[in-house]
Amino acid sequence: MSDTMVILGSCGSAREAYWVLQESNPGAETLFVNDLPEAQEVNVITVGKQQVEVVHDWDFSNFRKHRQSAFRKFICGMGDPIVKRILVCKALAAGLEPAPTQVSSNAFVRPDCSLGRGGVVHPGAYLFTNVCLGDYVTFFCARCGHDCIFGDYATCTSGCNIAGHTVIGEGVHLGLGTAVRQSLTIAPWVTVGMQSAVVKDLTQPGIVAFGAPAVKVRNADFPQPFLDTWPSEWLRELRHND
Ligand SMILES: CC(C)(COP(=O)(O)OP(=O)(O)OC[C@H]1O[C@@H](n2cnc3c(N)ncnc32)[C@H](O)[C@@H]1OP(=O)(O)O)[C@@H](O)C(=O)NCCC(=O)NCCS
Repeated sequence: MSDTMVILGSCGSAREAYWVLQESNPGAETLFVNDLPEAQEVNVITVGKQQVEVVHDWDFSNFRKHRQSAFRKFICGMGDPIVKRILVCKALAAGLEPAPTQVSSNAFVRPDCSLGRGGVVHPGAYLFTNVCLGDYVTFFCARCGHDCIFGDYATCTSGCNIAGHTVIGEGVHLGLGTAVRQSLTIAPWVTVGMQSAVVKDLTQPGIVAFGAPAVKVRNADFPQPFLDTWPSEWLRELRHND
């Protein structure tokens, strides 16, 4: 495990990611990186007794004067899949590499789960047998039944209950307390509102759905920096059914 780490994002869940990292690697030197406009005014974040610097660009030369290998690995601190995608693209372009997904010692993870890179499994998570997380997955205090698959950038917020053999697409955001019936598929970049019950496949990508049963309420509003990172064919496909 690296003794330095870049955490993408500077919000509350990035501070939570910091604590998860410290559990497995006490004293690891950490930087938060966030170049988005809303983060520009915060230069330092207090986490417990530590003052952690927030960097607003992708030039780490100042931090590597004494050791070129420092601050090469990153994990995603933020929960919003769209923001994750934007910052991960920039991190990879800057030559950073995802660290193995960090797992809280207070999470329950069966040994046959696979956890990808660049993500965080937070305290109170339960991942039962043969769950497969892609890269940059954020899994808060929620339960995931056997044989589920989470695509890259997906986020499962606290209180969700996902039954077995479910496929959660890339970039899906499951709102607080959502329940998902077994063996369903949720298409990529779907946001499911809090306290929803997903009882049928959500097949259209890039929508917002909520309710019990969860149904589409609108298309997602993707901000321009997110749209800039996608090939246009993908976007055409995303809006194919409109
Ligand atoms: C689904 C969601 C994305 C919609 O956000 P939005 O588009 O900004 O929607 P609004 O807040 O403007 O609400 C629009 C309408 O939908 C209703 N609504 C919003 N979310 C709802 C939900 N989860 N269940 C039922 N109704 C909901 C609102 O009451 C409002 O109804 P109205 O038009 O009759 O007043 C959001 O409400 C949500 O649930 N996000 C997830 C939050 C979460 O889990 N955060 C985790 C932080 S770790």
